[in-house]
Amino acid sequence: MKNLIVPVSYRATRSFANAQDDTGVCLTPPYLRSKLAQTAMNLSVQLAPRHPKGLRLTNPVMTASGTFGYGTEYAQLMDIQKLGAIVCKGTTLKSRTGNLQPRIVETTAGMLNSIGLQNIGVEALVAEKAPIWATWRVPVIVNIAGDTVQDYAALAGRLEGIPGVSGIEVNVSCPNTAAGGALFGKDPKVVAEVTRAVKRASSLPIIVKLTPNVTDICEVAIAAAEAGADALSLINTLAGMAIDARKRKPVLGNINGGLSGPAIKPVALHMVYRVAKVVKVPIIGIGGITSGLDAIEFIEAGASAVQVGMANFVNPRCALDVLEGIEEFLKEEGIEDVSQLVGAAL
Ligand SMILES: Cc1cc2nc3c(=O)[nH]c(=O)nc-3n(C[C@H](O)[C@H](O)[C@H](O)COP(=O)(O)O)c2cc1C
Repeated sequence: MKNLIVPVSYRATRSFANAQDDTGVCLTPPYLRSKLAQTAMNLSVQLAPRHPKGLRLTNPVMTASGTFGYGTEYAQLMDIQKLGAIVCKGTTLKSRTGNLQPRIVETTAGMLNSIGLQNIGVEALVAEKAPIWATWRVPVIVNIAGDTVQDYAALAGRLEGIPGVSGIEVNVSCPNTAAGGALFGKDPKVVAEVTRAVKRASSLPIIVKLTPNVTDICEVAIAAAEAGADALSLINTLAGMAIDARKRKPVLGNINGGLSGPAIKPVALHMVYRVAKVVKVPIIGIGGITSGLDAIEFIEAGASAVQVGMANFVNPRCALDVLEGIEEFLKEEGIEDVSQLVGAAL
């Protein structure tokens, strides 16, 4: 057996652990191999570095709003405590029954949904869900949606001091009733106004979730960051529709829906990449992530964390598979800390 020197860096550790002879036989004794494979890897991320409380996740994999219920539904299916964070279904002041059926249709490499923010409302969330979350190790972030700027502020105020709520994600892909129904998220000034209102009403870390249905997402991202957003999530679904050719009419009861899944990944990646060049706050990449490699691409484009959405419907434990895929990638590449990869492709 060749003389092997004990390495100092993880990259070296990895090559040592995998040292092979000319025939491909591993030269490292098994007891050392497993020890080396356990070399500490840092997956933790800080999502709100400029917030006094911060928002530290044990790893960068979160579940996306509307695709993982309140987390409670999945607790029987997988070890949800291993997730970096859970983002719950979009929550409004009053409960909502949502849009007309059908509300979901499969598309090439994705799906369209027009759920219409069906949810239990903030009071039921505070009474029934938050007490369960308070017993969990995994942080839960509440996604909020409103018809007016005041709605957003009221929701943030109601969630203030509620045990089990670790942060707020502000969904600005909602129609602003005071402005004739245009999406809040289309206008940088309105996004700034909503962000400031939520920040004033809450001492929690605030994540603003951007819509891709805009001319220039960078303008909106800058406005949210300057207004005090602790982090940005991007992207929400892309506007789309489906038509039933034989019936000669739109498939969705609501006519329009939001496209998600692998079909939107290149668009989401492009937006994360562009926004990462113009803001300093952490970015959470969302859009078509189904594997560890997809997540790594978002991280290299500048995301500090990722959210898994539609893929949860295909494979309920997809987010954990994504996490394992990230770990595998870091091991293969000999990288000790996931943060070393953030923005590596910029
Ligand atoms: C059925 C469904 C419901 C959703 N509900 C919400 C929601 O309530 N609030 C929100 O901000 N985003 C919502 N989204 C958007 C997702 O959180 C995510 O941003 C989007 O689906 C893109 O990610 P994906 O391609 O991984 O699904 C929903 C998406 C789907 C598919």
